[in-house]
Amino acid sequence: MTYQECINCGTRYPIDEVVYFCRKCGDILEIKLDYDLAKDILKKSGWRKTPLSVWRYRDLMPIHDPAKIVTLNEGGTGLHQCKRLGKALGIKQLYVKNEGENPTGSFKDRGMTVGVTKAVELGVKSVICASTGNTSASLAAYAAKAGLQCAVLIPSGKIAYGKLAQAIIYGSKVIQVRGNFDQALEIVFKLSEKHGSIYLLNSINPFRIEGQKSLGYEICEQLDNESPDRVVVPVGNAGNISAIWKGFTEFHNLGFVKTLPKMTGIQAVGAAPIAQAIKSGSSEIKPVSMPETIATAIRIGAPVSWKKAVNAIRNSGGTAETVTDEEILEAQKTLSRLEGLFVEPASASSIAGLKKLVENGTIDKDERIVCVTTGHGLKDPDVAIRMSEKPLEVDADVEAIEKVLGLKKTVAVPVNR
Ligand code: F0G
Repeated sequence: MTYQECINCGTRYPIDEVVYFCRKCGDILEIKLDYDLAKDILKKSGWRKTPLSVWRYRDLMPIHDPAKIVTLNEGGTGLHQCKRLGKALGIKQLYVKNEGENPTGSFKDRGMTVGVTKAVELGVKSVICASTGNTSASLAAYAAKAGLQCAVLIPSGKIAYGKLAQAIIYGSKVIQVRGNFDQALEIVFKLSEKHGSIYLLNSINPFRIEGQKSLGYEICEQLDNESPDRVVVPVGNAGNISAIWKGFTEFHNLGFVKTLPKMTGIQAVGAAPIAQAIKSGSSEIKPVSMPETIATAIRIGAPVSWKKAVNAIRNSGGTAETVTDEEILEAQKTLSRLEGLFVEPASASSIAGLKKLVENGTIDKDERIVCVTTGHGLKDPDVAIRMSEKPLEVDADVEAIEKVLGLKKTVAVPVNR
């Protein structure tokens, strides 16, 4: 049987009970897979013949009724071998798992397809989340598809324009909170406790994590049923790194891969409580009260899934690193120019972190490495334009273009007509 379990005291809750925090100790929950049952079902289901996507792993998702699945075709994103970037960083085998290729442009869609399907199974009519942008865009889209009422709380003036446009156009109630993400998250916790009819779809909801674990499964399959040596992930609220690790450990326990990767989390210097805890060897995090970074997606000071993330990093033998805004922007540009992959600043932190860890000798150049880029560059066009050279403007004639392109002036040869 599949059930929910508190990550601290082990208290179990039935799979269909709406519970976000353990009623005994207040910690967060995770879903425990029934491996024997899963192995039996997988043997008969023919899953290996279905396309790469979140729902290829339907047998490993805690959903009862396939007819209720709310999908926009999530997952199945590219694992791009990055030879030019690898060479620039001195790494032999580098891949980028590009989550911007999801329907709303971020990895959040993997979690939302499962989370919103669960909402439909539970019969709820309204859903809510707090967000730095991508979660709100994704939830708004899936709620629209499912015909659910949706409200999203975002920090006022601090989310990228593309994400705001998405949340608005999908028809959710967009509420700008005068405060930061951590404060908005506290409010939605309180609201969903107080009003049982509102279903909370932030990543403490363990059904979100179930969808996101498919990211780990897919990497294994794209590497011909092997784990990479290391996976580098941007960390904000810390759900994703935990989910990816869950995916790898489940594939390992099912006997599909022989080894496990070192999970490596990257945070922005101004919002790095998890990286600080890992570096100092502490068993607790010290929340940052005023988090700040240009990578607004990971501008989070009190990550709610910190304990899961710290466990994933420590149990896998991984590490964590911080990167400055300058390093993030530089990495964003380099990835675009060497590999044709345009990702948002938070996503580029994984590349910036990798560079730093190679330079300081923490990462071996022979490792097979996967960097996860979490969201599409078009989510945040403002930052890309602000940090780039202005395009040239010329008169509408050929000579003007020749001049700026440095093309030699050729003498026109008279043509006999
Ligand atoms: N990268 C991007 C592009 C994100 O949007 C987020 C989180 C992360 C990385 C970090 O993932 O929180 O699971 O550690 N964005 C959330 C949001 C918080 O509201 O969209 P995490």
